[in-house]
Amino acid sequence: MSNREQWSSKTGFILAAAGSAVGLGNIWKFPYIAGENGGAAFLFIYLICILMIGLPILNVEILLGRTTQKNPVGAFKALHGDSHWKYVGGLGVLASFTILSFYSIVGGWSVAYTFEALRGTFHSFETPQVAAEFFNLKNSNPAWVVGYHTIFFAMIVVIILSGIKAGIEKASKFLMPVLFIILMVLVFQGLMLPDSDKGMSFLFNPDWSKINAKTFLLALGHAFFTLSLGMGAMMTYGSYLSDKDDVVNASYLVAFLDTLIAILAGVAIFTVVFSSGYDPTAGPGLVFHVLPPLLAQLPGGYIFALLFFLLLTIAAVTSAISILEVSVAYLVDEMRYSRKKATLTMGVLVYFAAIPCALSFNVLQDVTILVQGKAFTFFDTADYLASNILLPLGGFFIAIFAGYVWGVDEVVKNLLKGNSESVYFGNTILESSSSKKVFGLLIRYLSPILIFLVFLYQFGWI
Ligand code: PHE
Repeated sequence: MSNREQWSSKTGFILAAAGSAVGLGNIWKFPYIAGENGGAAFLFIYLICILMIGLPILNVEILLGRTTQKNPVGAFKALHGDSHWKYVGGLGVLASFTILSFYSIVGGWSVAYTFEALRGTFHSFETPQVAAEFFNLKNSNPAWVVGYHTIFFAMIVVIILSGIKAGIEKASKFLMPVLFIILMVLVFQGLMLPDSDKGMSFLFNPDWSKINAKTFLLALGHAFFTLSLGMGAMMTYGSYLSDKDDVVNASYLVAFLDTLIAILAGVAIFTVVFSSGYDPTAGPGLVFHVLPPLLAQLPGGYIFALLFFLLLTIAAVTSAISILEVSVAYLVDEMRYSRKKATLTMGVLVYFAAIPCALSFNVLQDVTILVQGKAFTFFDTADYLASNILLPLGGFFIAIFAGYVWGVDEVVKNLLKGNSESVYFGNTILESSSSKKVFGLLIRYLSPILIFLVFLYQFGWI
């Protein structure tokens, strides 16, 4: 595999990995779950989950990729032969199908709403109810949903076709700074609004009474999703690093950027929602129902609405490419496909796998299965299956593999390989024997046990 492509710079990798992490999870999901679950109190628990479980697993995933220079299936094969561990990698490929099939629909909505913002459609929305009706009406047309899914998907395929350096890295290096600038503009305009302090206190005042076991499990599940863990996306991106690259510091930076952007998105959204006196606990509909009319009614609203949906689209694109890349890398490494053939093959397969999700809002809306007493469409099922089952399951096995099969000593030895002396604390933390013990405790006991509890909770067993 000597001709395997690599990132051209460390910054390139960090921006691509941050691009994967920063997605719909940060801008659409985090603000409303934080808002509904105690604001700063949730934030506090979420940060603990990121630090104690997310970070160690993020390190391990990137390291597995860097060490083996392989996709998730190949990585486990390289370290453990042709054993059952390769199925953990296979689970990642399966998750890549499942996540992308609903992610691409929401990505399509973001593209569609960017166009609607351009056309000034939101100006005619008096209330979020009208906006919701518009959303439902548009979604009742299969051609509309499938059409925008197609546009979104085509963008991803084009980027992946161009390869690691010229495609993923170049796109991330351009899009991530743009995303950050747009977000800062939205944060500042939000903070200038009357009553913006109400939005801030909603997000930052801790309400400890809302905290219970469920909050903890929610925070943990979201930590996985938001850091792109448990399906080999970070492993695959890590496989384009060389031994000289520093995994520990890259992980800190990616986790930091991801958290920062989630919090900023919360500020941008809740300042607007509160200054208009709307219900902040609108849940998943917040972004597509509540925000368009509120943004459009602000002074300069045309441009803010446009910027917001551009932000959402960029965030979705840079995450979606990391999801598809897992499957593409699998075909390239394991089946010896060319990048072009692998991308087109997986592109076509995943594109069609997403169609039932696209039709979940119209022709297939009555085709449902019962999950925990609720009727789930294809779209709901894919979302549920990915976020609540496949990712934590993958994370569980990755922690077990690192802690018991590969072994903490070996993991730490490899982690230290690329650590340059001068940088932050990565080195010192891992070199001292007590920190190695802490790392071992986190990866061998805390992570698997907590993930296991999440499962018991999911299925209503606790
Ligand atoms: N991290 C992305 C988000 O927050 C989602 C994602 C999950 C991306 C798994 C890759 C792999 O939206």
